[in-house]
Amino acid sequence: MKQVLATVISNEKLFLEFCLNERPKYLATWLMWLDSPEIAAEAKPGQFVMVNCGEECTLPRPFSIHQVNDKGIALFYVVLADGKGTNWLSRRKKGDTIELFGQLGNGFTTQSTTKNMLLIAGGIGIAPLYFLAREALKEKYSVTLLYGTTDNKRLPISSQIKLVSATEDGTVGYRGKITDLLPQYVDQADQIFACGPLPMYKKMAQMLELKDKPVQISLEVRMACGLGICYGCTIKTKVGLKQVCTDGPVFNLNDILWDELVDI
Ligand SMILES: Cc1cc2nc3c(=O)[nH]c(=O)nc-3n(C[C@H](O)[C@H](O)[C@H](O)COP(=O)(O)OP(=O)(O)OC[C@H]3O[C@@H](n4cnc5c(N)ncnc54)[C@H](O)[C@@H]3O)c2cc1C
Ligand code: FES
Repeated sequence: MKQVLATVISNEKLFLEFCLNERPKYLATWLMWLDSPEIAAEAKPGQFVMVNCGEECTLPRPFSIHQVNDKGIALFYVVLADGKGTNWLSRRKKGDTIELFGQLGNGFTTQSTTKNMLLIAGGIGIAPLYFLAREALKEKYSVTLLYGTTDNKRLPISSQIKLVSATEDGTVGYRGKITDLLPQYVDQADQIFACGPLPMYKKMAQMLELKDKPVQISLEVRMACGLGICYGCTIKTKVGLKQVCTDGPVFNLNDILWDELVDI
């Protein structure tokens, strides 16, 4: 784990009004590149960093590592309408410096027998899965991405990924939730990786088609320290209490006691 003062390479607004029909209102989706080669060199898909978001935020905020290159890491983030930290982040300009520490947590793991990977992203859940997909393609895995959003605003996805879209308003792809499409892709997948909102996971946990499949999910809960010190991120699992920041954020879908988990 490293604490770094990273220079902002770029900070670009990608989409407006990413999601307007769920709480809280999201203002926009942003992509920020940060000069932090030391974190980029060691980061694994599914890991995250804690970012100090200015004087108004006493606690750092967690963000998934979305992309890496030889210069640094990218964060892909939604600015919450009433979010102090994400609004502060969106006001950073090229050349500003940001304090962050990481990389943190356990990322996704791929079994040696896996050939076909099925990724399921709900909304901003694309953030860590995009990194996973790019790494998987380098290793010659076959990658299918089911990507559900509320409307047609999306990230450009590599053409090597088989992309299946669902939008709640029907502007692109299937009209409805991405989990509606999941059953038809399960058989061809050796392993499944998901990142999205809690209702998506609760739905997946009830799907009979997934009962015998290895499914890893990345969990989002409120975090204070990110280091296993405050216990603020503790969740109940079938194998006891776990801290999302150090034991996760990636868990097996069927290990979590979903009924005990409440939304942020
Ligand atoms: C491991 C991990 C990885 C994450 N990766 C990403 C990522 O890649 N991109 C990204 O955009 N976000 C990510 N998040 C969520 C991100 O940390 C929060 O959106 C951020 O902390 C909000 O900070 P804020 O100061 O803007 O909002 P706050 O001022 O803390 O909260 C503002 C309002 O938003 C609500 N809120 C806070 N967090 C969330 C949330 N996650 N979802 C819905 N409502 C929320 C609060 O209850 C409050 O009402 C991740 C979280 C975790 C735990
Ligand atoms: S956030 Fe403090 S223990 Fe996990």
